[in-house]
Amino acid sequence: MFSPADRRRRIGRVSDSGPEEVALAVRTAFAAASGWEQTPVAERAACLERTADLLEADMGRLIALCCREGGKTIADGIAEVREAADFCRYYAARARELFAEPIELPGPTGERNRLSLHGRGVFACISPWNFPVAIFCGQIAAALAAGNAVVAKPAEQTPLTAVQVVELCHRAGIPGNVLQLVLGDGPSVGMPLVADPRIGGVAFTGGLDTARAINRALAERPGPIVPLIAETGGQNAMMLDSSALPEQAVADILASSFQSAGQRCSALRVLYVQEDVAPRLLEMLAGAMAELRIGDPWDLSTDVGPIIDEAARERLAEHCARMEREGRLIYRCDLPPGAEHGCFFPPQVFEIDDIGRIGGEVFGPVLHVIRYPAEHLDMVIEAINATGYGLTFGIQSRIGRTVEHVTSRMRAGNLYVNRNMIGAVVGVQPFGGEGLSGTGPKAGGPHYLLRFATERALSVNT
Ligand code: SER
Repeated sequence: MFSPADRRRRIGRVSDSGPEEVALAVRTAFAAASGWEQTPVAERAACLERTADLLEADMGRLIALCCREGGKTIADGIAEVREAADFCRYYAARARELFAEPIELPGPTGERNRLSLHGRGVFACISPWNFPVAIFCGQIAAALAAGNAVVAKPAEQTPLTAVQVVELCHRAGIPGNVLQLVLGDGPSVGMPLVADPRIGGVAFTGGLDTARAINRALAERPGPIVPLIAETGGQNAMMLDSSALPEQAVADILASSFQSAGQRCSALRVLYVQEDVAPRLLEMLAGAMAELRIGDPWDLSTDVGPIIDEAARERLAEHCARMEREGRLIYRCDLPPGAEHGCFFPPQVFEIDDIGRIGGEVFGPVLHVIRYPAEHLDMVIEAINATGYGLTFGIQSRIGRTVEHVTSRMRAGNLYVNRNMIGAVVGVQPFGGEGLSGTGPKAGGPHYLLRFATERALSVNT
């Protein structure tokens, strides 16, 4: 493994799991699943709470791993570990509420009816490299809290971080056979994993194409019909009208587009600016971008670190070359000396005439801007909805009527008004989209655990 900030720097070695190891992991988890399901929920929850404590105690090492392996800044690394601990504690608390006692249901005299929740067996948890602690841990914590055994497959770009998190989970008391880890890429490890008929459900966060491939694999395999919880990408938009506060809007646009080098599924990709305020807003945006510090994520003053790998850089470069031909470059940051040793990509903004030109999710520090006349408000809403994605959406407007009109028509899972669009807080801003952006339920929300469980109704003639 090499650091995305400096490809000359080796940070560790891993061996990928072979087909026998994947099968062994599933077999082991399958054999352990019913014991874990029978473990009182209070004990399962206590394991997750201890995991949260250990994550916090080991924060320094985890931040270093996020930074060295995932190219995340220190601020992003801190947020990762906090979010992971929040997921563990939140799902532990929800599991105690939902799983401790069956719900008593009304029925005729002489009959007792109860509804209870149970684990589904073995969950495959397939997570992305952009949140190697938080999303990795969140999926696992939810599946375990609901009484499932887990086989976790982290992204092939961030295995070292995953190994560390799993070690902490085991130290916290989650039995080794209940939580298994397999390493490798999607085609050779992820696909055989989900195709195994002993898998009782899949939690996946990542690209839309992979989500579709998992869906197909689940449909074609023998064995039970199981749920797929997929959280995919977005073509997230923000609308800004002439009543917006420009200084605040620019700070929010900057954070939403370029924090984490734009490598968040929640990140802002297309900004619609009301045309009368566009010249000033864009000038301010370019000025603010000129102040961004791009460089080593290990340096506390760095705002934008590297992107994940060479393949991502090539995709972004190709996209930006097309945007330059089809639109207009408004601003491109300079890269610092030495950046050629890492996978750095300069934050940049293009003006384009139509959201359709973007052509799908662009996962990196690239913002597209479209001007709109005030009277085209509804056409903008329609164009954004027509992309089919529905993850995050932002509006910068101080006119209550406009905010209400737009937010009530926008098909997006997370809507943000007069603030940035990233960093959803567990239990406060349940996160997840609709349409091409995912199946729901929302991570960090009150209904998430339910999809990891199966329901049983018991009717007793008394
Ligand atoms: N939950 C993250 C955010 O809100 C994205 O996965 O930015």
